[in-house]
Amino acid sequence: MLHPDEGRLRQGLEAEDLMQSAPARSSGRSVYVREMFARIAPRYDAANRVLTAGLDEAWRRRAIRLLAPPPGGSVLDLCCGTGDVVFHLLRTDPAMRVTGIDFCPPMLELARQRAAGEARGSAEFVEGDVAELPFAQNAFDGATMAFSLRNVVDIDAVLTETLRVLRPGARFVNLDVGKPPNPLWRRLFNLYFYGVVPLLGGLVGGSRQAYSYLPSSLTHHPDAAHLRERFERAGFTHAEYVPLMGGAIAIHVGTKPT
Ligand SMILES: C[S@@+](CC[C@H](N)C(=O)[O-])C[C@H]1O[C@@H](n2cnc3c(N)ncnc32)[C@H](O)[C@@H]1O
Repeated sequence: MLHPDEGRLRQGLEAEDLMQSAPARSSGRSVYVREMFARIAPRYDAANRVLTAGLDEAWRRRAIRLLAPPPGGSVLDLCCGTGDVVFHLLRTDPAMRVTGIDFCPPMLELARQRAAGEARGSAEFVEGDVAELPFAQNAFDGATMAFSLRNVVDIDAVLTETLRVLRPGARFVNLDVGKPPNPLWRRLFNLYFYGVVPLLGGLVGGSRQAYSYLPSSLTHHPDAAHLRERFERAGFTHAEYVPLMGGAIAIHVGTKPT
């Protein structure tokens, strides 16, 4: 099997160092991640479509179906970026009250510009860190997160905070890249994710360094089974995950106990 680190490119080394020494330099890593997303924000959506051959939108819609929020309910999208999940949520139910939170101002600016052109519903975009959510306990009927948990410094803090702001019985759905269990498929996927993504992301997304960091963020991320355990440890019940694309993508779902 190809070890993920074998796929590391030169440009990713700085990012990889930050990932490995995260506890000691957590604030440094947070700043690095925020600045990196600020750099790639203008071409982020286009790069996503190219890198996933357009499949990322279908994965987001699948995640939203698993959320099943009540009609007209309030939903928080963590690490909303340019608002892809937010706008999918509003298309399923324009009466929904959706709040997106992200710590990267250029991403939020693009989300607000997109909101002005969206025909359905309205959303609020808030600047903030998902490890310290600026919302009251039990404030939301559901929460979503897409392609972001790998990037946060303290996964457990984010899970605990998400649980706090959900009302009892509400779900948290997390969509992200995973680690395929089949060795052959994992090898192929790693070749793509650690080898092709930095090259293609550099061309389309405008920063080869940023698109070298994104794969390295998976290296130290728990696999799907362990992430499910982290959901349980944080206090979620009915924690489960749905693997897509042979486990290259995973959707985790947890419920706040009633
Ligand atoms: C890969 S993008 C995903 C954006 C969006 N969820 C999507 O599906 O396209 C990751 C986003 O997470 C944000 N982010 C990373 N760490 C964060 C944190 N600790 N607090 C808030 N936002 C964070 C970044 O600014 C970036 O916009």
